[in-house]
Amino acid sequence: MAESPRRSAALRAGTVYLVGAGPGDPGLLTLRGAEVLAAATVVYHDYLVTDPILRRAAHARLVDVGKVGHGPQTTQDAIERALVQEARAGECVVRLKGGDPFVFGRGTEEALALADAGVPFEIVPGVSSAFAVPAAAGIPVTARGIASSVAVMTGHSVAGPPPAAPVADTVVVLMGVANAAAVRDRLLQSGMKPATPAAVIQRGTCPDERVVTCRLDELPEVVIREGLTAPSILVVGEAVRLRERLALRVAARDGVRVAAGVHD
Ligand SMILES: C[S@@+](CC[C@H](N)C(=O)[O-])C[C@H]1O[C@@H](n2cnc3c(N)ncnc32)[C@H](O)[C@@H]1O
Repeated sequence: MAESPRRSAALRAGTVYLVGAGPGDPGLLTLRGAEVLAAATVVYHDYLVTDPILRRAAHARLVDVGKVGHGPQTTQDAIERALVQEARAGECVVRLKGGDPFVFGRGTEEALALADAGVPFEIVPGVSSAFAVPAAAGIPVTARGIASSVAVMTGHSVAGPPPAAPVADTVVVLMGVANAAAVRDRLLQSGMKPATPAAVIQRGTCPDERVVTCRLDELPEVVIREGLTAPSILVVGEAVRLRERLALRVAARDGVRVAAGVHD
């Protein structure tokens, strides 16, 4: 089989690599991501990127530009300026983001800034937490006869008028744990039933992963009672129920805690 030209391409100084680090488990970093990190001379990374993945950048200067929620952060403008400056100074620059760089990661803005500045760059897609975190916890986001559509939304901006129709059979919410009441209200307004199974997965694929299941209408109370915080993913839909049958295998993984069952 012919090798992809991208995979065999030599890494170039003066280039920015926008790399998705995956959801946390270092085994879910892509081969291209690992290759690029090994050659990097400087890495600008987010808070979601785990230490085993950062250690792959053995020869690089590490710059933490991450933030938790609305906490202290390097401004987006400053990050974009720094990437351009580092590339122009001849560095082999990696911009390392959790999951996939183009899924709620502001990778799009950074790619556009590099394009506008005429700086060469490569997108290295990552395994997005949106699908990988539910899967690793035993929750398929689609399932024949149960869920034939899936929507991924942010929990940051759920205020305002509700959507006209139900979003999808399965809804995956990123950045929604601090806003769980608004997310629940939005999904109820869009036509989902209060008893729809829901799950909260905190630090999915990491050794300290936690998975809590409940009904949609219980989500905010469960988040508070269990002390669930970012980074967490909310999954709502009948497919969450499949976890009961897949849980034996999933629960056997180290560090996974099953805090509650799905209620009917
Ligand atoms: C700014 S978004 C970035 C998403 C990322 N680009 C991706 O594709 O996964 C950050 C949110 O992703 C979700 N997230 C990322 N990694 C996660 C993980 N290991 N476990 C649970 N949620 C995660 C959380 O909802 C978190 O607040």
